[in-house]
Amino acid sequence: MYPLRRNRRLRTNEAIRSLVRETIITPNDFLVPLFVVEGKGIKDEIPSMPNYFRYSLDLLENEIKELWKLGLKSVLLFVKVPDNLKDNAGEEALNPNGLMQRAIKTVKNVCPDMLVMTDVALDPYSAYGHDGIIDNGEIVNDATALFLAEMSLSHAEAGADFVAPSDMMDGRILTIREALEDEGFINTGIMSYSAKYASSFYGPFRDALDSAPVDLVDIPKDKKTYQMDYGNRFEAIKETEMDIEEGADIVMVKPGLSYLDILRDIKNEVDVPVAVYQVSGEYAMIKAAAQNGWLDHDQVMLETTIAFKRAGADIIASYFAKDVVKLIS
Ligand code: PBG
Repeated sequence: MYPLRRNRRLRTNEAIRSLVRETIITPNDFLVPLFVVEGKGIKDEIPSMPNYFRYSLDLLENEIKELWKLGLKSVLLFVKVPDNLKDNAGEEALNPNGLMQRAIKTVKNVCPDMLVMTDVALDPYSAYGHDGIIDNGEIVNDATALFLAEMSLSHAEAGADFVAPSDMMDGRILTIREALEDEGFINTGIMSYSAKYASSFYGPFRDALDSAPVDLVDIPKDKKTYQMDYGNRFEAIKETEMDIEEGADIVMVKPGLSYLDILRDIKNEVDVPVAVYQVSGEYAMIKAAAQNGWLDHDQVMLETTIAFKRAGADIIASYFAKDVVKLIS
């Protein structure tokens, strides 16, 4: 008798396919990145991220309400800092009345149950577009880690539920965890960008925040002395395990689609939730191809999202979150 098993029986129609499908996506899977700017009435489309916007705080309120209605219950905040407030040490990041601190309060005000995560890194505040303080042409590690701990405290004081250090300095998770514990913020979580690669897929994000490394003599042109080399796999496991030992509650792999192998490795290795970040360049590629009529936008979007979850992601940070949820509801 040939063949003994016909696998196609399980693909005959949508009813049987959905009955045996291993991976499904729900609104609970998503973390929504949001870009915030100073001003009033601003909903500014980011040129390299079609249909994605920077919001002033008043319009952020509407967006938060809309996300909540869609079942999206977690946001990750980023701020675009005016040029005149940027310096080497990122001092503005500690301003209790700074844009990030006000953004946290705005979200909590309109939607107290929305989970607020904040980006903790210097680059939006850095006159040089780097994630660390620069001394003699080098990104200094320990001083930066201490500064990030101060920044995390400031976000916790403003009401952030989680801080999300995206910088890749050594030891910063421990420094942040200790600072939070010492000041009584025992319930403030840390989502560490633990395996973050030096990637060219971040380009549109740097447009959105005007945060690209500057082109100046004596300033490193890229982030390769702190973000990971994309040829490396085992280093990602080491980085992630160290962050967990230092107190990370959630770890992350970033970017997403080019790093699904790393995502699966880490999911198999660790016992904390694993997030993945489908970054700006991944979003831009799909948008651009779809605009040209070369790809089916919705289907490709859905396929990538499922791929993240299948590869082991417990949390997906994605600019497509809203679109996906609308599509599947
Ligand atoms: C910087 C930061 C970056 C992203 C998140 N936080 C860019 C970078 O490291 O240069 C990228 C996100 C994206 O591309 O969507 N701390």
